[in-house]
Amino acid sequence: MSDTAQLIIGDKTYELPVITGTEDEKAIDISKLRDQSGYVTLDIGYKNTGATKSAITFLDGEKGILKYRGYSIEQLAEKSTFIEVAYLLIYGDLPTAEQLKDFQYQLSRHTLVQEDMKKFFDGFPQGSHPMGQLSSLVCAMSAFYPDSLKPNQTAQEVNLSIVKTLAKMSTLVSWIYKKSLGHPYIYPRNKYDYVTNFLYMTFGQRTEEIEIDPVIVDAMNKLLILHADHEQNCSASTVRIVGSSDSNLYASLSAGISALWGPLHGGANQAVIEMLEKIQQDGGDTDKWIAKAKDKNDPFRLMGFGHRVYKNFDPRARIIKKACDDILEKLGIDDEVLQIAKKLEEVALKDPYFVQRKLYPNVDFYSGIIYRALGFPTDMFTVLFALGRLPGWIAQWKEMKENKEPIGRPRQIYTGEVNREYVDIDKR
Ligand code: ACO
Repeated sequence: MSDTAQLIIGDKTYELPVITGTEDEKAIDISKLRDQSGYVTLDIGYKNTGATKSAITFLDGEKGILKYRGYSIEQLAEKSTFIEVAYLLIYGDLPTAEQLKDFQYQLSRHTLVQEDMKKFFDGFPQGSHPMGQLSSLVCAMSAFYPDSLKPNQTAQEVNLSIVKTLAKMSTLVSWIYKKSLGHPYIYPRNKYDYVTNFLYMTFGQRTEEIEIDPVIVDAMNKLLILHADHEQNCSASTVRIVGSSDSNLYASLSAGISALWGPLHGGANQAVIEMLEKIQQDGGDTDKWIAKAKDKNDPFRLMGFGHRVYKNFDPRARIIKKACDDILEKLGIDDEVLQIAKKLEEVALKDPYFVQRKLYPNVDFYSGIIYRALGFPTDMFTVLFALGRLPGWIAQWKEMKENKEPIGRPRQIYTGEVNREYVDIDKR
């Protein structure tokens, strides 16, 4: 089979190399096209554009496959922990018992944040959105840990920034939650593993000892694993492109958090619950809301349905649906909102509008229901997504650096006015 593609423009033929990935994905390499022909390609929204070569995550949207470093998401969600998966994504292999112990030790040594960072929380108005807080706090870490700004950092120095970010993120996220309640911040405890420590700082009180339920630790591990990476999505691409200008790790991650915030990306988990609550308050008539989603004159979309790449099913949604059922049963919660979600799913999966457009429930359709059952307020959901996605963003940033990728700088097709003469203001 040919390993080049031919592009014919007018009377000229251009030979373009064909690249094949390890999972047999094919791409036409157009990196020399403009030099050779003067043409660029146009792909608004990058639906057909490979921005990089990556060895981190593979997904096949048609077959519903997701793998981190070659391991299926199903196996990782069943057998692994979030921290083990973080290690896998960032360093490329599953850790040995010794490596995992050392990684956990390093993380526990860096969970404290500079005390001065607490002043940020005093400055944010009560009720300000947790994602805005998180993005600012993560960017501000560059001021508190300026080593990350050094050009040409050694691998050890980069690694220290990575460990610090992972460790401190859980403290910052739990403190954002505490701030929303007006409760005192709880300091990390080194005796706990990463996820237990996060739950302890989030739900713990200074006034009493609390027990962290292993069912909740398990659920949280699963949720974080399922969100840990998703190849070149909007936020990961943002992290890579910001990092490609040699911006430091914290600034790159902060940009990724901002990208995740939008309701068409990570913000969907908040939007799903808000939508379900609205349907509940409206009397629970799912048919009415399905009709609204199908009406082209109505801007309403069924949140948690559809995905840019999964056009059959989202494998994470399957795992999370089961986890959701288990957790609600174990915690003895009968949530009416979940009943509405199930009804919507059932109707939408049979409706030709959704079937023809291959719109299936995505990971966010169920994650919000679990977070709600665990006691998180709605506007914390996307922050929890960010906590899970952090190792993926770090892995993407690290890979981009190690591959010495050039600064990301797309081209455009200009469609504006040409050659206008300046008219003085009194003559316009
Ligand atoms: N409800 C109703 N109609 C929908 C929905 C939906 N949730 N999603 C897509 N459609 C329709 C569109 O109107 C369009 O119809 P048309 O062909 O008649 O014009 C068709 O399906 C294709 O939709 P696009 O927007 O072109 O698909 P795209 O791949 O660009 O968008 C996206 C994917 C943004 C996720 C979209 O499905 C959506 O907005 N879903 C709801 C938001 C959501 O759940 N986002 C979370 C994504 S997962 C994540 O980030 C972790």
